Amino acid sequence: MYASSIINQINLVSDQINKSKIKIILNNLENNISQQLDGSVVEMGCYVGTTSLFIQKLLIHYDQISNFFVYDSFQGLPDKAPEDLSVVGDQFQKFQLSCSKSDLITNFKKNNLPLPRITKAWFNQLTNQELPKKIYFAFLDSDFYFSILDSLKLIWPVFNQKGTIIIDDYNREALPGVSKAVNVFFQHKKVKVKQVENLAIITNN
Ligand SMILES: C[S@@+](CC[C@H](N)C(=O)[O-])C[C@H]1O[C@@H](n2cnc3c(N)ncnc32)[C@H](O)[C@@H]1O
Repeated sequence: MYASSIINQINLVSDQINKSKIKIILNNLENNISQQLDGSVVEMGCYVGTTSLFIQKLLIHYDQISNFFVYDSFQGLPDKAPEDLSVVGDQFQKFQLSCSKSDLITNFKKNNLPLPRITKAWFNQLTNQELPKKIYFAFLDSDFYFSILDSLKLIWPVFNQKGTIIIDDYNREALPGVSKAVNVFFQHKKVKVKQVENLAIITNN
């Protein structure tokens, strides 16, 4: 499988994710690619592109050029909701993790990869006009309750039910809002939520 071969071809450009989790994301994506599912790939919370670089490399290999959409405020994290308050401390503050869109673009250029379609916005200000018409794979990595909930509400109406949604920081004590958003959103939906490391992997089988 190509996914495992690219893991050593690109360096991590931040400490926001490790290669073990990237491998899991790529394996799931490659599995969906092999099923030739209709739609596009999105990453909500792309930051400087640590994961996006790997996703784009895989998509390019499979001729899915211009099929990758990434979103971020590029202003860092928003305010915390009560759901985000954690007993293990007060890390992850408002505006933390801010970076510029050009930091992301530079990382793609350094890796000789074409740019994904980049949208700078707060998720609660996005409309379906700015989303692809159909999505078969989504990686959500935005740390907070409403950031995850808003992303899920946006993508769900256009999600290809044969595809996969992966959410980072599931069951992570420092970011309790993530699991709460996932659990609330999917509680009455017919999906399977599997946890691998602290990724929630959502499929319909
Ligand atoms: C943990 S970082 C993402 C790391 C990234 N996936 C990577 O692999 O490098 C979280 C990102 O989510 C963004 N974010 C969080 N909440 C957001 C919101 N409500 N709207 C837009 N961006 C948001 C932050 O700006 C930050 O860049």
